[in-house]
Amino acid sequence: MNAERDKNMRQIDKKTDVDTLNVKDITIRSLDEYNIMKCIDSILAIDNLSLGHYRFWYKENFFLELPRKWVLSKIALLNNVLVGYCIVSAYATNKAHIHRMSVHPRFRMKGIGEMLIQHALVEAFHEMVAEITLESLCDNPAANIFYEKLGFKELGEGGVNRYLFEKDKLSKSNKYYVINNKGNRRVFSIKVNNFTNKNSINKIEVT
Ligand SMILES: CC(C)(COP(=O)(O)OP(=O)(O)OC[C@H]1O[C@@H](n2cnc3c(N)ncnc32)[C@H](O)[C@@H]1OP(=O)(O)O)[C@@H](O)C(=O)NCCC(=O)NCCS
Repeated sequence: MNAERDKNMRQIDKKTDVDTLNVKDITIRSLDEYNIMKCIDSILAIDNLSLGHYRFWYKENFFLELPRKWVLSKIALLNNVLVGYCIVSAYATNKAHIHRMSVHPRFRMKGIGEMLIQHALVEAFHEMVAEITLESLCDNPAANIFYEKLGFKELGEGGVNRYLFEKDKLSKSNKYYVINNKGNRRVFSIKVNNFTNKNSINKIEVT
């Protein structure tokens, strides 16, 4: 496994020059139950680099079957090398949740995270999802600024309570959800319609 991860990292080093990266060369695709087999080691490598210090995710976390996960989750590829991912699933008829996302440290601040979210939101729109929620750690300012920049709004006390109640009720066996009232997390949400009204969604072709 480590050898495979190293290989993926070498591929990134060999094939790409971060200074000349043009986001036009980035392709966003759905992460589905088939292509995850091919890219799981790259996902784990990026995940470990990006979020391992908070809480490590094992292969099983990524393979967990959740409602509409294989449609809503997205990966970013640069010359067929994976540089980012975003794991999303539905948890109510019209709500979805972003469980985890990251972009390879060498490719950040180039709009890749934004592209991943845009594609997930357009997919959510097609899937009749009205709202997407996420939890972010208070001590992760980069992520918090990122989500706010993209139009996510932090939920107030009432919103957080409703969100926790719904998650608890609907996701008893969902290992991704760590119900956490300790105050070290911020809960954000975005109305999919607000996003799609502001952006020309026809320009964003989902695959
Ligand atoms: C959060 C993360 C996914 C953002 O990905 P990215 O590809 O670097 O983000 P983008 O380039 O699309 O940034 C879009 C906007 O977000 C804001 N932003 C992103 N990273 C930022 C940072 N480190 N500091 C300040 N603002 C930031 C900027 O306003 C940026 O827009 P601008 O370039 O027009 O100013 C990436 O930093 C990451 O992988 N972090 C580690 C993993 C993580 O924290 N995941 C979230 C867990 S909840």
